[in-house]
Amino acid sequence: MHDMNEAFGLGDRVAVVTGGASGIGRAVAEVLASAGARVVVGDLDGAGAEAVAGEIREFGGEALAHEVDVSERRQVEALIERATGEWGGLDILCNVAGIPADGPLRELGEDEFDRVVGVNVKGTLFGCQAGAAAMASSGGGSIINVASAAIDLAVPNYGLYALTKAAVTQLTQTLAVELGPRGIRVNVLAPGATLTNFSKRHLKNPDGSIDPERYERFVAAMKKTSPLDLVGEAIDQAWLVLYLASDASRFCTGQIWRANGGAAIPR
Ligand SMILES: NC(=O)c1ccc[n+]([C@@H]2O[C@H](COP(=O)([O-])OP(=O)(O)OC[C@H]3O[C@@H](n4cnc5c(N)ncnc54)[C@H](O)[C@@H]3O)[C@@H](O)[C@H]2O)c1
Repeated sequence: MHDMNEAFGLGDRVAVVTGGASGIGRAVAEVLASAGARVVVGDLDGAGAEAVAGEIREFGGEALAHEVDVSERRQVEALIERATGEWGGLDILCNVAGIPADGPLRELGEDEFDRVVGVNVKGTLFGCQAGAAAMASSGGGSIINVASAAIDLAVPNYGLYALTKAAVTQLTQTLAVELGPRGIRVNVLAPGATLTNFSKRHLKNPDGSIDPERYERFVAAMKKTSPLDLVGEAIDQAWLVLYLASDASRFCTGQIWRANGGAAIPR
């Protein structure tokens, strides 16, 4: 008889989630904690990370917050050290922090290129390097990176964002091969359109409030890309992360996981 709690449960596991103050990272931190993991919520927004960690503790979970800029290698190493120092090891690392980029590639300047590559590519790589070193001494673990549905499409004005996420996908696959012998699995999500602050950035009025009409039009347009007539929510990615973090996925590494409502089916 197979036991679901044994396969999917994360009791005693130690997890680090970057981008944990908002959207997908927040949902991931909450789900991992509810499955029993002790979670370090890392984010550039230290107060936001503290709010999420506090909420997890309020619901009986174990969590602490750590302010981090993932584009700074030393800060990422300190984030991982926070987990190992506090709880003695690292089993799960979710590199969720990421930023958008808008504009045509023909006009892309070097500073903007460096800024977005710094967070999306370097941030993920630094996380994988520091995380893998800690996991190797704890006997293995699971790393989950976050790319985007943008890796499957060539959309005008999304070129820089898409190339950073293609890089995240490639580094995931190479690391899966390099780290497999150390018992470390590395997978990558390619989420479809998901309603978070990230996707709402184009729908805001000058005062920061969401324009309800533009919001409705955006949701309708995103739903149209899905045969299920659905737009994603952060929790849709978090349930997938739970599977990839748990022993239930022990045979899975180096894969691209597309929770996207079917939007990337070639039609
Ligand atoms: N929302 C979508 O439609 C969508 C689709 C595909 C992929 N993604 C990816 O999912 C990830 C999470 O996005 P989201 O939608 O939850 O966005 P979000 O804006 O709600 O959350 C992103 C979080 O990352 C943090 N962050 C940004 N820069 C950071 C840095 N340098 N160091 C540490 N933290 C930093 C932000 O403070 C924020 O809390 C991103 O990598 C994004 O590219 C999102």
